[in-house]
Amino acid sequence: METKTVGILGAGTMGHGIAQVLIRSGYTVFLHDLSQQFLDSGAGRIAKGLNRDVEKNRLTDEEREKALSRLTTTTRVADLAAADFIVEAVTENLEVKAGAFRAIEPHCGQGVIFASNTSSISITRLAAATERPDRFIGLHFFNPVPVMKLVEIVPGLATSQETLEAAERLATSAGKTPVRVNDYPGFISNRLLMPMINEAVYCLMESVADAKGIDNVMKLGMNHPMGPLELADLIGLDVCLDIMKVLYESFRDSKYRPCPLLEKMVNAGRLGRKTGRGFYEYPGASGRC
Ligand code: 3HC
Repeated sequence: METKTVGILGAGTMGHGIAQVLIRSGYTVFLHDLSQQFLDSGAGRIAKGLNRDVEKNRLTDEEREKALSRLTTTTRVADLAAADFIVEAVTENLEVKAGAFRAIEPHCGQGVIFASNTSSISITRLAAATERPDRFIGLHFFNPVPVMKLVEIVPGLATSQETLEAAERLATSAGKTPVRVNDYPGFISNRLLMPMINEAVYCLMESVADAKGIDNVMKLGMNHPMGPLELADLIGLDVCLDIMKVLYESFRDSKYRPCPLLEKMVNAGRLGRKTGRGFYEYPGASGRC
């Protein structure tokens, strides 16, 4: 079945970015969140992103207006009944994500595919919380969504070939490059990225260098566009910690133990850009991811 209408759960950093990319690619999108305030913030960020494309001559005024007309924001899950593909991008917590799928499932037809943008939770486990494990898949986008080309496509144990192909088509038609990755903790991206970030936090904790020094080593020596600590601030330190915990608890291997300084930063509410302070300071932050 061809996907035309996508329902997105969560209007935060990832949800609004996915919505922006999809409406720009011709999909009708219903963006759901719990409060109108979250939706207004997400819609504002989408409009800003599309305005930027117009300024840069990547989009005409008319195309921007058409794209925006394909976006509906809603606080009612029942409105997502119109969607033939659901992408979940809510808080990175098994119970919260499973709860979101359970809330929406009674409103969705049999053929509707459910995808989770989880960064590390088992797709097989999330799928088992729904009535459609064969029509359930991981669709892992990267931040900032409009810029990053990759989507990890993660089939669970029961995911059908048809679902896999539909997810790959959606990612490709949104201008992304899908890479198939089997369902193991952290997939490929976060299994490699998060231990690097965690080790950078250890370097900071042990005063091997200051934050700028650590980041400069990776930027100037390895050509990374951002240093690991800057990147942690972009991703959110709470998200980094949650992923390290998933790796540690899943593999039961001490090499994945979260750095105590990372835990301390999260406990202090220094979550990175979204709270205005992480390893660096960001005046004027919005306070929401
Ligand atoms: N949202 C949307 N667009 C953004 C953006 C944002 N938050 N940040 C930057 N951009 C856009 C800019 O508008 C600019 O586009 P344009 O000039 O063509 O309009 C373009 O990206 C380049 O930005 P800048 O010139 O300001 O700065 P840089 O060249 O340094 O690029 C960057 C910024 C793209 C963020 C780059 O530093 C980068 O690629 N960093 C690494 C990002 C990364 O690794 N992301 C993955 C995180 S892991 C993840 O998401 C998985 C999860 O599970 C944890």
